[in-house]
Amino acid sequence: MSDYATIYEAIGGAPVIREIVEKFYPKVQAHPLLSPLFPEDIMPVMEKQYLFLTQFLGGPNLFSDEYGHPMMRARHLPFPITPERAEAWLDCMSRALAETEIPMPLQQLVLERLSGPAHHFVNTDPS
Ligand code: HEM
Repeated sequence: MSDYATIYEAIGGAPVIREIVEKFYPKVQAHPLLSPLFPEDIMPVMEKQYLFLTQFLGGPNLFSDEYGHPMMRARHLPFPITPERAEAWLDCMSRALAETEIPMPLQQLVLERLSGPAHHFVNTDPS
C-alpha cells in the first residue's frame, strides 16, 4: 500500500473494482435479509456501485461526475437498513473480496473503510 497514493491504485484500479462489484451482487441477491431490498434488474445498481467505489477508494470521481454529491446516507433512507442488514452487507463484501487476488491486509483495509458508512446507513431498529 505504501507504494501507492490510493487504495484504488493499490488494489489494481478499474478492473479490480469491476471484479469486486461482479462478485458482490450475486451474494447480495442470494442473501435472505438483503435480496428483498434490491430490484430484480441489478445491473443499474452494479453500475452505480462501480462508479461509487471507484471514487470512494480514491480513484476518479466517476459517481459525482454523473450523479452529483453522493449523499449516500440520504440515498439509502428509502430502504429499511437494520444493524443486521449492515452486517450482512459487510459479510457479502468480505466474501467478495476474498474471491479476488487482493492481498489480505488490503482486503481488510477496504472492509474497514466500508464498515463506517455501512453502520452509518442504519436507519431502522433491529427487527
Ligand atoms: C448497510 C447496508 C446496506 C444496504 C442494506 C444497502 C442497500 C442498498 C439498496 C437497497 C440500494 C438501492 C437499490 C436500488 O436502486 O433500488 C442501494 C444503493 C446503493 N448503495 Fe447501498 N446498501 C448498504 C450499504 C452500502 C454501502 C456501505 C455503500 C458504499 C459505501 C453503498 C453504496 C450504494 C450505492 C453507490 C448505491 C446506488 C445509489 C444510487 O442509487 O444513486 N451501500 N443500497
